Amino acid sequence: MFDVSIERLVRGGQVEESRAARVAFLWEEIRRLKRDKHAFVPAHNYQVPEVQAIADIVGDSFELAVRARNVDARLVVFCGVRFMAEGCYTLAPHLPVYLPNQRALCSLAEVDADDLEERQDFLRSLGRRFATMTYVNTYADVKALSDVCCTSANAAKIAGRLDVPDILFVPDQNLAYQVAIKTKRMYLPPPDPHAFHPKEYLARIEPLLREGERQGLVGNVFPWEGACHVHHEMTLADIATIRREDPTAVVIVHGEVRPELQEAADEVMSTSQMVKYVEAHPEKNRLAILTECGLVVRLELEHPETRFYRVCRLCEHMKAIDLENVYLALRDEPPECRVTVPENVRVGAARAMERMIELAG
Ligand code: 13P
Ligand code: SF4
Repeated sequence: MFDVSIERLVRGGQVEESRAARVAFLWEEIRRLKRDKHAFVPAHNYQVPEVQAIADIVGDSFELAVRARNVDARLVVFCGVRFMAEGCYTLAPHLPVYLPNQRALCSLAEVDADDLEERQDFLRSLGRRFATMTYVNTYADVKALSDVCCTSANAAKIAGRLDVPDILFVPDQNLAYQVAIKTKRMYLPPPDPHAFHPKEYLARIEPLLREGERQGLVGNVFPWEGACHVHHEMTLADIATIRREDPTAVVIVHGEVRPELQEAADEVMSTSQMVKYVEAHPEKNRLAILTECGLVVRLELEHPETRFYRVCRLCEHMKAIDLENVYLALRDEPPECRVTVPENVRVGAARAMERMIELAG
């Protein structure tokens, strides 16, 4: 829960003075509709503060996925992006789940299931013993082809508990790096986007496979070639500027930033791990948090005594959700906003998500 007043949002510049009355009206109506309709409204940490303020739970993708399994409600209005709403339906199919804006997608999630099967066949043809580990930022058809899901909060932990040497990590090439480093596996280069040629790719990775064996590593991480456009655009220069300006500032990055930024940062975390870090370390009061701005803006409101260097970026998909469309989704339950998955696909996706929850425990 995120408790904030409209006056505070106006003072902080998050709500324009001219919109304050409208925001107050929408908060009241949304709260009334939630009660009357027995609705549950989860929100991701990247949502704008005025949306986080009306949510029943605010969290990272893992927390939101786990919570979906025991929701006592008649319907869900999901303030996040489509894969998250779909994950909620996957784990709680008895509930109607609404996504207030169909443009709330994710640049990582567009993986073609046929391409994934081709990649799996390639690894089988090499005789590799591997598991397909899929970031939750994917759709159900891809999850259903996977052995286990993960989020940025638990990827390395889950990879460490798999009993196979190799991992086909889908779709984030940067989080794949984190998994490789933390579990002592060789990080192989991802293929060029939309240009996977088995023979050429094998020629490129063979020396690294041999090098991993020589070093006695656990195995290899074969990364998919996806990346989040928000995090992938962050650069080493962003970190260098902060370090120059304030050498004692703590630099925290999300696991979706490029490998060289993960190496240059002090911490690599999921969004809720960042929230907990700031709460647990009041003495670290100068921070640079490289992730989406919704989280940083909320932290600024919650911790006015801390200085947050502005190095965040906006995710337009997350920002496609606003109070107006949350209100309409709750009021009208529009059929076009309802998120479902064919039952045969949902069952496979739920299996991979449940395995994540079990292995993350
Ligand atoms: P978290 O799981 O850390 O909340 O991240 C989700 C996401 O979409 C990051 O861009
Ligand atoms: Fe997807 Fe990136 Fe937006 Fe997260 S920040 S929802 S990974 S596009």
